[in-house]
Amino acid sequence: MKELRKFDKVVNLAKTKGFIFPSSEIYGGLNSIYDYGPLGTELKNNLKQAWFDFMLARRDVVGLDSAILMHPAIWKASGHLDGFSDPLVDCMKCKARWRADHLLEKKGIKPHFGKDKGPAMGDIKCPDCGGDLTEVRQFNLIFKTFMGPLEDSANQIYLRPETAQGIYVNFLNVINSMRMKMPFGIAQIGKAFRNELTPGNFTFRMREFEQMEMQYFVHPDKTKEVFAKWQQLRMEWYKDLGISPDNLRFREHEKDELAHYAKRALDIEYNFAFSANETFKELEGIHHRGDWDLSQHQKFSKQKLALKDAEAKEYIPNIIETSGGVDRAILAFLMEAYTEIEGGRSTTTESNKEAEVVLKLDKRLAPIKIAILPLSKKDELVNKTNEVYDILVGKYRIAYDETGSIGKRYRRQDEIGTPYCVTVDFETLENNIVTVRDRDTMKQDYVNISELGVYFQDKFK
Ligand code: GAP
Repeated sequence: MKELRKFDKVVNLAKTKGFIFPSSEIYGGLNSIYDYGPLGTELKNNLKQAWFDFMLARRDVVGLDSAILMHPAIWKASGHLDGFSDPLVDCMKCKARWRADHLLEKKGIKPHFGKDKGPAMGDIKCPDCGGDLTEVRQFNLIFKTFMGPLEDSANQIYLRPETAQGIYVNFLNVINSMRMKMPFGIAQIGKAFRNELTPGNFTFRMREFEQMEMQYFVHPDKTKEVFAKWQQLRMEWYKDLGISPDNLRFREHEKDELAHYAKRALDIEYNFAFSANETFKELEGIHHRGDWDLSQHQKFSKQKLALKDAEAKEYIPNIIETSGGVDRAILAFLMEAYTEIEGGRSTTTESNKEAEVVLKLDKRLAPIKIAILPLSKKDELVNKTNEVYDILVGKYRIAYDETGSIGKRYRRQDEIGTPYCVTVDFETLENNIVTVRDRDTMKQDYVNISELGVYFQDKFK
């Protein structure tokens, strides 16, 4: 039997252990849309909180939560209605649809993009059936919908393809309400939608996803240093939360692959290892958007967005953007944390033969922080366990598990990344002492129940 790739194992774990489910599954699913299960929701909340804590720890960054639906003129101004498209070709024989740039890249040909004209496909044929391909057409990725009862073009609005525009159109509101002084940043997390032609690789490329974006407004003279600062800060964030430097790298975009708004773009890539030739892929982009966005919004909204510098000279603030995907980050952290221990590491006889899975998530990200495990279901033990539960619940996300052998219960928690298990046994009834087992080292501490609060405060500080 073919050995499963780590990526497949992670996808399987995510689905079977309550992290990520295919959307609408009982109806056969909806292509490239996913739901987060109970543990995935916790992981996602922890990740988003870690991001906000990191970004807002800087005195010059504030938060925002703007709406998904916005005035349609915003997307004309931003250039997305005209320029946010991918090159597409169809097979004339089997009707399969392909991203032209991906086909060219696979052949080692660098695609050259034009706004209206796609790259020339040469003699490239359909990878599925060898049929001839159509001319390249540009396909706009924005989802459309209607506001109000009439489905006509006057009522057409869009699902935002990036959260950034919600920040730009609130630039003045934030300055005026918060007395912000330049330079400063606005950070927000929210859903974005793209009608991707070739979604795939699980949650890597979806049609509905979440972004965590920060737009830093800066005088044009200072863009270089601000770019360098955020590039380092964002890389540090991934490393600090547990991603090995070996699996991260920067990739500078070449001039002809820049998005319509970008003067410079640098990706933070993670080694997703989808396949032998699909390894490092974009996790987050750091973009120098120049004065494109605010100039466009000033022009289209007719509201003055220019500021005055120290010499009272007017300028349009430039924007350095950090734009990461919540879902891609979750996938990267899951990939990084997934560890298989051949032959097992437990000493209990039933579990020492098979490979064991340990999800070595950083404690801050782990969906469940502490599992409480009574050795038996006997009343007196359950009462004592409830005492322990009451001390910890509300402070930490707790799991309670009383079924199966203790070895099996440890393994269940290891698989979902729970950093600590607390076992209550019959001796606890005598001496008030519980066993705390560490997920990664399997080291056991014996802690008096009266000291558990302080013990975990120290562990999670
Ligand atoms: N505001 C700039 C912007 O949206 P982008 O490079 O198009 O830039 C930023 O997207 C990030 O959003 C990506 O690095 C990726 O993490 C995430 N992302 C983009 N498209 C995605 C998709 N279809 N599915 C999941 N995540 C996506």
